[in-house]
Amino acid sequence: MGITTTVRRRLGKYEIPAAELYRSVFIDLDSLTTTLLSLGRPGRILEIGCGDGAVAERLVGALPDAEYVGIDVMAAPGRLFRGDRARAEFRSVYSHDLRAEGPALFDLVLVVDVLHHVPPAQREALLRDAEALLAPGGTLIVKEWERRSDLAHLMAYTADRYLSGDRNVDFGDRAELLTTISCALPELSVVCEARVPPNRSNILFALRRART
Ligand SMILES: C[S@@+](CC[C@H](N)C(=O)[O-])C[C@H]1O[C@@H](n2cnc3c(N)ncnc32)[C@H](O)[C@@H]1O
Repeated sequence: MGITTTVRRRLGKYEIPAAELYRSVFIDLDSLTTTLLSLGRPGRILEIGCGDGAVAERLVGALPDAEYVGIDVMAAPGRLFRGDRARAEFRSVYSHDLRAEGPALFDLVLVVDVLHHVPPAQREALLRDAEALLAPGGTLIVKEWERRSDLAHLMAYTADRYLSGDRNVDFGDRAELLTTISCALPELSVVCEARVPPNRSNILFALRRART
């Protein structure tokens, strides 16, 4: 358990505002949501590595007809989600376990700020799970924090390594991210690349299966 988790649990009613403030230093999740909605209005959404449910909350709130499933390897994913739980399900399972369950497919599959927490040797497998869970015509989003030589990156690395306590955190630059994605997902094409405020390190790729 990292310092962040330990401290946050002691914050009580201030935990959610504190978590939102902490995240906003690095990414504007409302801008991320706007970008996601500009790509389509998905009916079924899967988020791999959903964390406490910050992205879920925004998407479920913005899409009144959508159904959302969030999975994570952490205990109690979606713990801070404030929204319609009739349309949002959170499960503590690996992506390969969800994939093995069968044919439930999703119009939008999200992998947001997760890859740098996954050991490099396991990243391609996670991305292939994401692809396998994608419905025909669906969109896969890979959003990452790009490694750069600046103060913001030093802050992001320090926060993940020492506050969140992830000893294995490992960021790639744009070229490395694209190599990982294209090696794992040769049948998908990048249909959109975007940066998310407030920092250019927030890089987003939207991928779709090439039409035959
Ligand atoms: C920075 S949080 C992002 C949470 C959420 N996507 C968001 O943007 O608010 C990264 C999450 O990835 C999860 N994670 C790490 N490795 C994972 C894996 N192999 N499969 C699923 N989730 C994973 C962590 O437990 C953590 O909750």
